Amino acid sequence: MSSRSQLASWQALQQSANKMKEIHLKELFAKDSKRFEQFSVHIPGLLFDYSKQHVDRNVLQQLIALAEQCDIARWREKMFSGEKINFTENRAVLHTALRNRANTATLVDGKNVIDDVNAELAKMKVFVEKVRSGEWLGYTGKAVKDVVAIGVGGSNLGPQMATEALAAYADETLKVHYVSNVDGVQIASVLAGLDVETTLFVISSKTFTTSETMTNAQSAVNWFLGTAQQQQYIAKHFVAVSTNLEKTAAFGIADENVFTMWDWVGGRFSLWSAIGLPIALYLGFDAFEAILEGAFEVDEHFKTAPNEQNIPLLMALLSVWNTSFLGHKSQAILPYDQALHMLPAYLQQGEMESNGKHVNFAGEVVSYTTVPIIWGMTGINGQHAFYQCLHQGNVIVPADFIASIEPQIDVGQHHDILLSNFFAQTEAMMTGVDAEQVTADLTAKGKSPVEITELLNHKIHQGNRPTTSMLLDKVDAKTVGRLIALYEHKIFCQGIILEICSFDQWGVELGKGLASKIEAELLDDTITHPHDSSTQGLIAYYKQHRK
Ligand code: F6P
Repeated sequence: MSSRSQLASWQALQQSANKMKEIHLKELFAKDSKRFEQFSVHIPGLLFDYSKQHVDRNVLQQLIALAEQCDIARWREKMFSGEKINFTENRAVLHTALRNRANTATLVDGKNVIDDVNAELAKMKVFVEKVRSGEWLGYTGKAVKDVVAIGVGGSNLGPQMATEALAAYADETLKVHYVSNVDGVQIASVLAGLDVETTLFVISSKTFTTSETMTNAQSAVNWFLGTAQQQQYIAKHFVAVSTNLEKTAAFGIADENVFTMWDWVGGRFSLWSAIGLPIALYLGFDAFEAILEGAFEVDEHFKTAPNEQNIPLLMALLSVWNTSFLGHKSQAILPYDQALHMLPAYLQQGEMESNGKHVNFAGEVVSYTTVPIIWGMTGINGQHAFYQCLHQGNVIVPADFIASIEPQIDVGQHHDILLSNFFAQTEAMMTGVDAEQVTADLTAKGKSPVEITELLNHKIHQGNRPTTSMLLDKVDAKTVGRLIALYEHKIFCQGIILEICSFDQWGVELGKGLASKIEAELLDDTITHPHDSSTQGLIAYYKQHRK
């Protein structure tokens, strides 16, 4: 038995889960007229309503007791103060230092990292202003019009998600394009529309060894030199974001064009570092700083709010409750805001790469399900795709519904129609429609008793499907910072409660290593490695049939 499941609160929650499975959410609302007030929290810019989650006051207390027995406050302090809590890689976890607007001294190996952070922010600001003002000139003396950001995973998803979320605020100064896939179709189609003389490349890779990014970066250089011809011009068109100065230099990028980050910034938590450079280029440095400010507000909330009012902690506890106790193995992220359309993909990496593990701190196999499968898309489109299953399928999928009160762009009645769907869906998922109601509706429509009997079971909606609703004031830079920081701290708390080391990703390394071996086999027929018969057969078939 793993140590968490031996805790008194864990065992109490197991018993509560058995009881709660018998109680419909509707009954919880009927019993408690103050349910919305009791189970919702407001912070500047955001209302968090978890009253449609399958908890009552007793379960909430038990969940908070679990957090306390897991020493969440002590672990939080360790993270913020720079202790090496990523113990499998011997690293601090300090993405919060990147947005520490109060400049609180934070030591790693005796060095105050805040000084380094501020120096790098200052360097970014100068660069961004030069590029955006037209002072930074390409090799033929023209200003930059297009930025191509090359990177993958954490070096892509955060910047691209934020760029899409805030595109409504961008001016005409620059266009930003993202290339993450090693499928050549992506880079070819991005470059097809661009002018070598006015294009700036940002190569983002913490390690500067990721094969996909390096391949795309090399193709970008080849495309550039195809016209510019001379190697020396690379300095005017290529910058990098990385911890690996040796590799960036070997690649041909001048040191002054490298923006650095540190090993205490995890890839999937890196958008606050120079990895966010494309966002700053696109929207201006002030907007980038507003994102940092929004996140800093949430850091302060996370550090100081009491447990019952602490949104990231509540988000984590609800996730653990749904996944590890109620057995719901999937979680949907459903933004009712087009600007947030990449949020599900971003959070998929954040949560699944962090907590998709099966052993606890001591390396013992855990007895409970850790992370749920995170998925989703914008709510309205989802309604016409997979919501049928959310309403009537026999797999229950807890969902986060996210909407904004004020639209980024006001177009007639659109926003009220959008929000009426947002409210209706969570209500329908909670209440459902019982046999009595279906019978009454069909009778009112003039159906005969025989027809009603035939249709009855098809039209019953059990309801009882847990959802959380988040209402943002508006999707702007600060709100994006707040929202991402809430989920980051949720992931951290979830990891501590489940005893998962959230900050490594050994599983990703396994596939990467194997791919590089196979790559050698594809490029050179004399190289062969032993494989299972399926992999062997697939490789042979590919080599036989490729042109
Ligand atoms: O997907 C695995 C991963 O290691 C991520 O954690 C990381 O964000 C991504 O690859 C990119 O790594 P890098 O920034 O070093 O290119």
